[in-house]
Amino acid sequence: MSLDMLTIPAQCVENSRIAELDYNNIEFGKIFSDHMLVADYKEGKWENPHIRPYGNMSLSPATSSLHYGQSIFEGMKAYRDANGDILLFRPLDNFHRLNKSAERMCMPALTEDIFMQGLEQLLRLDAAWVPPTAGCALYIRPFMFATDEFIGVRPSSSYRFAIFTCPVGAYYGQPLRVAIEPHYVRSVEGGAGYAKAAGNYGAALYPARQMQERGYHQLIWTDAKEHKYIEESGTMNLMFVLDGKLVTPPVSTTILAGITRDSVLQVARDLGYTVEERKVSVDELEEAHKAGKLQEAFGTGTAATIAQIATIHHNGLDMDLPAIEDRKISNHVAAELDKIKTGQAPDTHHWVHRISL
Ligand code: COI
Repeated sequence: MSLDMLTIPAQCVENSRIAELDYNNIEFGKIFSDHMLVADYKEGKWENPHIRPYGNMSLSPATSSLHYGQSIFEGMKAYRDANGDILLFRPLDNFHRLNKSAERMCMPALTEDIFMQGLEQLLRLDAAWVPPTAGCALYIRPFMFATDEFIGVRPSSSYRFAIFTCPVGAYYGQPLRVAIEPHYVRSVEGGAGYAKAAGNYGAALYPARQMQERGYHQLIWTDAKEHKYIEESGTMNLMFVLDGKLVTPPVSTTILAGITRDSVLQVARDLGYTVEERKVSVDELEEAHKAGKLQEAFGTGTAATIAQIATIHHNGLDMDLPAIEDRKISNHVAAELDKIKTGQAPDTHHWVHRISL
């Protein structure tokens, strides 16, 4: 199917639920836009892409993804610019990452036309759901799961791909207290940590809850071999400002290649900051903190964008970091990135996909 040949049929809602949305009071992930895109994979090809009202899907109890976890997802955001156009941020990067996850989970690649045209048609139809409010966006959730009714363990031969969207405000309402995880691991070299696979998130819940019971919002994952090097925090990539330099662990088979991560590093370089992608050890963080050189710490992710970290706990010690308003690099990069996403600064890297209404 080529991009210009595909026109996705749409069944529209009779009554929009948009009146339920209070643009000034949007909680993350609780209210969903009117429509969703759905396509199915059968006998070696994607078929029947269509748009229909957002609603339940009926599944057999034997649906294989429910048992063996062939299930992947993406997260991206759309913003509104001053003219009312919709600006999608780096959608093709999400498309490529979805297919990388699909490959690792032994699932079929999605076609670009279904992804991009489906997304564009869906957003045109649900344009009113893209909040014009500063600090808000339309969160877009593409996902794919195995649909064979079969309980033997083997890759499914049928899959469903779907996209639904939800207007969102901030993911975290306050600067985070995080704790370095000394025991559990999220991911091992050679594993599937780099894939946005549902099971990676499910397996992280128990250790995260243990930390939450100890008074921290999230944990910081360390490497699986020695618990010596920093990996990610919760569902975010992690960055530090150490002695004036922006430092982050390099992507690997254990770390998700975050699109916000990549954007933050690029914008920081564009603004003239020194960026280092290298291993960061727990010891280095502790020493830098003692020497007053751990100046900033923050997570990056689509949902959270840039989530400031107020405190890092390790080995019985809370390392309190400088006040958020004094954090030069993260505040500067966050503001600049926000301008690019909302069309207020030049899009020099061609990240923005504009949908003119
Ligand atoms: C994202 O940042 O989009 C994520 O995937 C995090 C999450 C809401 C699971």
